[in-house]
Amino acid sequence: MGPGILTRPFPRVGGVLHCGGLSLEELATTFGTPLYVYDIRRVEACYRGFADAFAAAAPLIAYSVKANGNLSILSRLNALGSGADVTSLGELFRARQAGIPADRIVFAGVGKTEAEMAEALREGIYAFNVESRGELERLDAVAGELGMRAPFGLRVNPDVLTATPHEYTRTGHAAAKFGVPHGDVVELYRWAANRRHLRPLGIDVHIGSQITDTVPYLAAVERVLDLVVEIRSHGIDLEYVDLGGGFGIRYDSEEGMDVVALSAAVLPLVHGSGLRLILEPGRAIVGDAGVLLTRVKYVKESGGKTFVIADSGMSDLIRPSHYGGYHEVERVDTREERLRRAVDVVGPICETGDFLARDRVMDLPAPGDLLAVHTAGAYGFTMASNYNGRRRPAEVMVDGDRVHLIRRRETLEDLVRAERPEALNTETLPE
Ligand SMILES: Cc1ncc(COP(=O)(O)O)c(C=O)c1O
Repeated sequence: MGPGILTRPFPRVGGVLHCGGLSLEELATTFGTPLYVYDIRRVEACYRGFADAFAAAAPLIAYSVKANGNLSILSRLNALGSGADVTSLGELFRARQAGIPADRIVFAGVGKTEAEMAEALREGIYAFNVESRGELERLDAVAGELGMRAPFGLRVNPDVLTATPHEYTRTGHAAAKFGVPHGDVVELYRWAANRRHLRPLGIDVHIGSQITDTVPYLAAVERVLDLVVEIRSHGIDLEYVDLGGGFGIRYDSEEGMDVVALSAAVLPLVHGSGLRLILEPGRAIVGDAGVLLTRVKYVKESGGKTFVIADSGMSDLIRPSHYGGYHEVERVDTREERLRRAVDVVGPICETGDFLARDRVMDLPAPGDLLAVHTAGAYGFTMASNYNGRRRPAEVMVDGDRVHLIRRRETLEDLVRAERPEALNTETLPE
């Protein structure tokens, strides 16, 4: 979050990292490794910090479920008044299971299916953020079959190229798959305004992820609000402007987005438009509230490098190998002194791309040491897979001095549960 708003979680007490009042070493011993640990008070503080910064606009904060969709976290956020930004039937299901009211849910994504549209309509979500003409036509048809009107906003591709740490996290330039090209937006609202089963309700933009500068948001808001003026001149009134998510946090030495400065820049424009503001923060709420704990199995030298081989890797946390995401890695217990060395912290998976940190100067770990991989609360577990036949980690949530197992470690049975023996399942396709 912004400078000075919050101190960093996971303090070192007596040489050992803690979460709330509990030692990470003890949590790893009790629940095993790899283990995701979330500090729920940090999540709540980040949510409040974000909500307070924008309080003057009374926005709908639609927490982005893709960042971390664990039901316990969602239900705590629901209790604070959060809504949800969902991108699939699965995320809609999670949000509703956690008690988030449908009228606080927005549905994003370039490839919504008919089943997803129908279910979201039946649930009564606040709005669909629609990304193409084809999708809007499909939504019209699905709503028609249900005898309903689908509330929607178009996601505008503002053609703003935003500096993010990796090209895969830029979404607001014309050559990205996201959104309706800026030049097509007004025409599409005009078309939709005459469709019986569509209800133009708002407008949406999301320019990328891990953005720490307010300027691109301001540019995007200005571009979108100019469009709103034009849309209104055709007699189509809108109710909301959704500025998406992407608010950056501190992974390394960078400063996270200063949300107070962002709100000071953006709110006067939004106020002037009379539109209801929607924001979709994900990592800014949960990112630094989570660590991944992993135990060192082996240390080996090869090709002039030192490899620290841990019991967790890309199947549990794919950000480093997928988009070069940086995560601070440190020993949980530093009471014993060690030499500093440049090492690669790698996992057990059969891929050269399986690493958590590369060429990282750190205290040289020894087998048996517990490592904390920081800032793993967002896009950690939600992007985890079963690759190499691995069971996804357990997740625990610490609330002060109490710990809750909020997802058990997967079992071997879980790995094959959905599969059916071939012999019992011979189906003939129609000729
Ligand atoms: C449409 C939309 N909203 C919100 C988010 C959340 O982004 P972040 O977690 O960076 O805030 C994303 C991330 O991909 C997104 O695509």
